[in-house]
Amino acid sequence: MHGPAMFRSRKAKTTAESQAQNDDLVVIVDRAVNPYLVMFHEPASYRAEQMRALRNRLATLNADAEPKTLVVTSASRSEGKTVTALNLAMALSELERQQVVVVDADLRRPSIERYLNLNPGPGLSDVLQGDVPLEKALRPVGFRRLMVLGAGTRVNNPADVLNGSRIDELFARLKERFQYIVIDTPPVLPSTDAGVLAARADGTLFVLRLEHTLKGSAREALRSLQELGANVLGTFVSELRGRDPESDPDLRYDSVED
Ligand SMILES: Nc1ncnc2c1ncn2[C@@H]1O[C@H](COP(=O)(O)OP(=O)(O)OP(=O)(O)O)[C@@H](O)[C@H]1O
Ligand SMILES: [Mg+2]
Repeated sequence: MHGPAMFRSRKAKTTAESQAQNDDLVVIVDRAVNPYLVMFHEPASYRAEQMRALRNRLATLNADAEPKTLVVTSASRSEGKTVTALNLAMALSELERQQVVVVDADLRRPSIERYLNLNPGPGLSDVLQGDVPLEKALRPVGFRRLMVLGAGTRVNNPADVLNGSRIDELFARLKERFQYIVIDTPPVLPSTDAGVLAARADGTLFVLRLEHTLKGSAREALRSLQELGANVLGTFVSELRGRDPESDPDLRYDSVED
């Protein structure tokens, strides 16, 4: 949609331009959709195809074709969870007749609305606390029929809000309407939130960031998820830094196996 920056001439005045002191040449930085959402920006790219391949593996694993909740998590901060969750949700929503929702369950540092260039609205925390009905909190993303449930109003006790009995109720209600419920979470190691959600979800996708995630952290996080009873479906390598994915087959994500 928008590039990260664009040039405008004096003729095409905007508010930002009229406020600028020198309007001969003004650079406007858009609050744009996150550049790594390849399903949105570069749907024909190699990375978008990789995302569709992951989606297809997940769809194959979904043998009974019943609605599924799918948690996306990782060991630590900044490993590509949110971008992966969004790209995957977009890839799933390309499938015919599949209604998909992406849920921001990172109540500590929510980012989904920002990455989608949406204003923050009522969301998960409000629904879980019974303050807003689900229908009022679900919004279209503007990509296929993908819907979003943002994180909602900030709360001081995210662990309690996520751990209540209402989360099971919410999952059940979302399953009445959507075939895939993709849930973005905080990292596993610093808090219990992701583990709590993964234990209740149908499947968990574990994100690793290439040349970044420490082996020990990944092992510890995976062990903790398994102990909690999470159904870890596979891992996804989120970053392809410094090497060329087109020519290096080692950079592909680990396959999602039974
Ligand atoms: N393929 C990529 N290459 C480089 N940077 C990326 C890539 N994918 C995502 N990023 C950037 O890396 C940062 C972390 O990504 P993201 O927010 O998806 O991680 P996260 O695991 O959800 O982080 P957090 O733990 O803070 O929620 C973001 O600024 C994002 O724009
Ligand atoms: Mg995130």
